[in-house]
Amino acid sequence: MRKLRAGVLISGRGSNMMSLIEAARAQEYPVEIRCVVSNRPDAKGLEHAVSQDIATKVIDHQAYASRETFDAELGRYLASQSLDLVACAGFMRFLGPALVAEWRGRMLNIHPSLLPAYPGVRTHERAIADGVKVHGCTVHQVTADLDGGPIILQTQVPVLPGDTPETLAARVLKEEHRIYPKALAMVARELQAKTST
Ligand code: GRF
Repeated sequence: MRKLRAGVLISGRGSNMMSLIEAARAQEYPVEIRCVVSNRPDAKGLEHAVSQDIATKVIDHQAYASRETFDAELGRYLASQSLDLVACAGFMRFLGPALVAEWRGRMLNIHPSLLPAYPGVRTHERAIADGVKVHGCTVHQVTADLDGGPIILQTQVPVLPGDTPETLAARVLKEEHRIYPKALAMVARELQAKTST
């Protein structure tokens, strides 16, 4: 069965992107990473992608007058790459309903909390402030509802006494790197099964 083609959207460091690229090196992994798109020209992850011989594209949101024109350009680029799947990995732009609808069921995101708890930003700081004992990360389908799409996979980590947002983020990030490749493979295998029947 052919590998499905995925594009990865990033805005920064790109460590989740790297975990997907690494997983996709395995012959039996059902997805190949075809391109990496950043909305920020200075995203560190772009250098890693180049070093792995992955095509990169910058679509700088600041160069677009509106969310709709940015989304339209991003949508055109993704379509031009003949992708089956899109994985948002630290992509810090809200995508509008039109683009999200085009990719329904085929666009994933990783979020650093146990959704539906703590959608949005500063998740680790908020979890510590609330005194929760369990935190974690979630891979979910992207819908027009910010961080609200159907959950594919999530995993928990303990919040330890003395944790700072940084120590907690590091514990969660390890789990992100473990579950994102798993979740992407799960979705890809489901799509493959649907198209082969
Ligand atoms: C991750 O914690 C991700 O869940 C969040 O932003 C961070 C991005 O890290 N949305 P990286 O760019 O994948 O290293």
